[in-house]
Amino acid sequence: MGSPAKAQRRPTATGPGASQARDEPGTQPQPAAGPQPQPAAGPQPQPRPVVRVGLLGCGNVGAALARLLLTDAKRIAERTGIELELARVAVRSAAKERDVPGVEPLLTTDAGRVVDDPAVDVVVEVMGGISPARDLVLRALSQGKPVVSANKELLANHGGELWEAADRAGVDLLFEASVAGGIPLIRALRESLAGERIERVMGIVNGTTNYILSRMDSSGVSYREALAEAQSLGYAERDPTADVEGYDAAAKAAILANVAFGAKVVAGDVYREGISAITAQDIAVAARLGFTIKLLAVVEAGPDGSLAVRVHPTMLPRAHPLASVRDSFNAVFVEGDAVGQLMLLGRGAGGPPTASAVLGDLVDAAHNLVVKGAPRKLELHDVTVRPIDDLRCAYYLSLLVADRPGVLAAIAGVLGRHHVSVRSMEQEAPEPEAEPGEGRARGAGPEPEAHLVFVTHPAYERDVQACLHDLRGLDAVRRLGSLVRVTGR
Ligand SMILES: NC(=O)c1ccc[n+]([C@@H]2O[C@H](COP(=O)([O-])OP(=O)(O)OC[C@H]3O[C@@H](n4cnc5c(N)ncnc54)[C@H](OP(=O)(O)O)[C@@H]3O)[C@@H](O)[C@H]2O)c1
Repeated sequence: MGSPAKAQRRPTATGPGASQARDEPGTQPQPAAGPQPQPAAGPQPQPRPVVRVGLLGCGNVGAALARLLLTDAKRIAERTGIELELARVAVRSAAKERDVPGVEPLLTTDAGRVVDDPAVDVVVEVMGGISPARDLVLRALSQGKPVVSANKELLANHGGELWEAADRAGVDLLFEASVAGGIPLIRALRESLAGERIERVMGIVNGTTNYILSRMDSSGVSYREALAEAQSLGYAERDPTADVEGYDAAAKAAILANVAFGAKVVAGDVYREGISAITAQDIAVAARLGFTIKLLAVVEAGPDGSLAVRVHPTMLPRAHPLASVRDSFNAVFVEGDAVGQLMLLGRGAGGPPTASAVLGDLVDAAHNLVVKGAPRKLELHDVTVRPIDDLRCAYYLSLLVADRPGVLAAIAGVLGRHHVSVRSMEQEAPEPEAEPGEGRARGAGPEPEAHLVFVTHPAYERDVQACLHDLRGLDAVRRLGSLVRVTGR
């Protein structure tokens, strides 16, 4: 472990030369009163201000950022007018090999020292998790150091506290990379759409699940096969729970609710369902009906100011712009009162795309430091988060039933009792993924089974759930299959 690079004797954002670089009018070239003898070499260029970066984490994202800062510094300085200097880098393991030329002498395992180092002007947190990231971010902010973070888990659970701390300190807390990786979404929502009355944000914000669902759609493979393929390609973790069960997308939905609606929402407020129950047959039936199934994070304003924030598999018409977003790509579809509909599409993960978003934030934070600009505030207010029971939409429901007379009438009776009307019903061949003989335990013995698929007219979730409860109690219903919400627009 080496010592950090020596801070250069040039104007820095907070160092001894800072005020000269930032505000002294005397340092700017003055207009001449009349013809003056010109110095032979012409006016000397002003040195660029230097902003020194303390990096917490040098994994996928941190290493890609360090590489950019160490190898592309000249181009970044020419483009932005600021020299970003990587001063220190915190990692957990000193022994790990890092494929980042020039980073070795900057490494330390003491993240607190990086934050506290007076030679660090801005802190970038890309270590992930809540602890110690939360304490380190608060510590940096309390010292008046702007923070850039890509940590969705931290922001989705403690964002309110952190933004308040940044506001108190009068510095930036920027987090572009925390949702949809390389897509400049947060900046579009906070700045370009700052005055827009946003009605709904719907996003494919998890690349792993989009890859799995795309593969199931394009090649008819099962969920398990598509997941195994995603794991072999490095798109899914060995333990894929956070992705496939929607936890990752729920954290991002909470951040979208913060940014697009100024709503005080945390990850735990988000209704969440994952994709692990979606079968190849659901995907095939959806395709035949003109739909595709996507895991969507949806944040939607109600007329009374309440907010629906949810993550679940959704059937989208194939003509919808989000339906064509395939593989591990992310996309976010925004609907606003004045702007209408717009969509942002790109790489939602991966070291370099995510580091690109972090770098954008870093340049912004550095620029604000240099010009002493006021940081952009994120004010959150309390909202009522609507329970999922209040959702009203069409539903796709699949059932495995005994193939005998009277079954349809019994099912129709349950649906009718709960005010759920059927738009279409199809009988499918039994699912290849169903266990042989599955569901027969309650029946009188082996008898033929049929797989029924219903698409309902718009209905309330509470009524649909009441139907499911009653259907479970019907002797002819062998198994309830998937329930997928359908969005028509
Ligand atoms: N990867 C992506 O595509 C992506 C996309 C968007 C957002 N993000 C977010 O970006 C953050 C970083 O993700 P990542 O994929 O880069 O994670 P990662 O590969 O696991 O890297 C984490 C880094 O933090 C270091 N670290 C962890 N705990 C530490 C501690 N207590 N003290 C010092 N260093 C510590 C690790 O050190 P060692 O190297 O020594 O283990 C490692 O360098 C996460 O919040 C993630 O959600 C990632």
